[in-house]
Amino acid sequence: MRRLSTVVASCGHLTSPAGDAWVSVSLTFQGLKALGVPPDSLNSFPPEFQQGMAARANELGDTEENAPQNWEKPLGTPDVHVVLTALSPTDQQLEPVLERARKAYQEMQGIKAIWRQNCHASANGKEPFGFRDGISHPAVEGSGIPGTNPKEQPIKAGEFVLGYKDETGGYASIPQPEVLGRNGTYVVFRKLHQQVAAFRQYLKANSSGPEEEELLGAKMMGRWRSGAPLALCPARDNPELGADPKRNNDFLFQDADPKGFVTPPRAHIRRMNPRDTLGDRTIVNLHRMIRRGTNYGPPFPEGVLEDDGIDRGLMFAFVGAHLRRQFEFVQSEWVNSGLFIGSKDEKDPIAGANNGADRFTVPRQPVRRSLLNLPRFVVTRGGEYCFMPGIRALRWLAELDS
Ligand code: HEM
Repeated sequence: MRRLSTVVASCGHLTSPAGDAWVSVSLTFQGLKALGVPPDSLNSFPPEFQQGMAARANELGDTEENAPQNWEKPLGTPDVHVVLTALSPTDQQLEPVLERARKAYQEMQGIKAIWRQNCHASANGKEPFGFRDGISHPAVEGSGIPGTNPKEQPIKAGEFVLGYKDETGGYASIPQPEVLGRNGTYVVFRKLHQQVAAFRQYLKANSSGPEEEELLGAKMMGRWRSGAPLALCPARDNPELGADPKRNNDFLFQDADPKGFVTPPRAHIRRMNPRDTLGDRTIVNLHRMIRRGTNYGPPFPEGVLEDDGIDRGLMFAFVGAHLRRQFEFVQSEWVNSGLFIGSKDEKDPIAGANNGADRFTVPRQPVRRSLLNLPRFVVTRGGEYCFMPGIRALRWLAELDS
């Protein structure tokens, strides 16, 4: 932990000590235990974090195909203690940092790298289903970084970093002692396998031609492939708008489209951030998240409809101060239940645990369109709940006698 504390960048000095790479370190509950964190302190972490992601399978929709017994090992086992994440603009810049990290632990007894996942941002910024990702992010009050949606207010820092005021006007419960909890946050990693061939087949089977396929995909996502939102271009894609960060997230839903004739209430982005549609904006603000997911695996060649058996998808990463009311709430209530939009059984058409008997309804005049037999396009391959300590906390951990 002491060695790592010297390579993690500080918010106070934004330059990374690891040069052109950014390194972060986070620990599972089992990892904190193995380091010798005292019981009083361990017990001050929220119960869902103590239990770990695999134990929360029922809450998260990780059942059937998604169940922990089918996960890639060692994910979801007590053996995962520390997660190191390294990020850089190129592979060449990443390698020296990884080499340094390897040297740090190879010399140490009792530490072994047991899993590694390479990820990459695609050249066109698209995730494996073919939609531009990484567009909409909440602005964090006090960060000085402008939000992506000029129509949304910045969110209080305490929603994302422990030790600061949050949207309730109070503070998230902070792990003790204060030096350990303050400036820390929770990170959720999930390896999500995407069944790209099944997704393409479904669009094709439920459309009369390529144009309708694109429209159906956009109705499921809430955005066209270019990233252009249906809310701003309902009839066809507009790649110029999709690529323009000043315009591609500048919208709300309610006034222009209360019934969802343009962006269906069941569409992925309208579920994940209903913006102004739940009446009281403060409710939505309690369930925002910072996302830092990237692709893994090779892209699926254009036009192919048959599965090639190769694993590809999204390494989903959530960052937030409240595991339960942010990640777990969104995953259980907005991804895997449709109660909040008046249709209990309709799960998220993209990320939901659909099983072939599910439905996706597209509001339309004169009659809505109900698409049946929605298969599962995303399968959980595994994941972990982690705590990402601040730099002072890393030093505190380094002083522990294990
Ligand atoms: C493999 C599964 C998934 C895929 C392919 C996917 C893809 C996308 C895409 C293309 C966007 C629109 C671009 C953007 O706004 O950045 C988006 C937005 C978003 N997704 Fe996902 N997503 C997946 C799973 C999830 C899960 C599991 C969650 C939460 C538990 C989630 C939460 C969000 C949120 C919060 C937004 C931003 C909504 C907004 O502010 O408009 N996604 N996703």
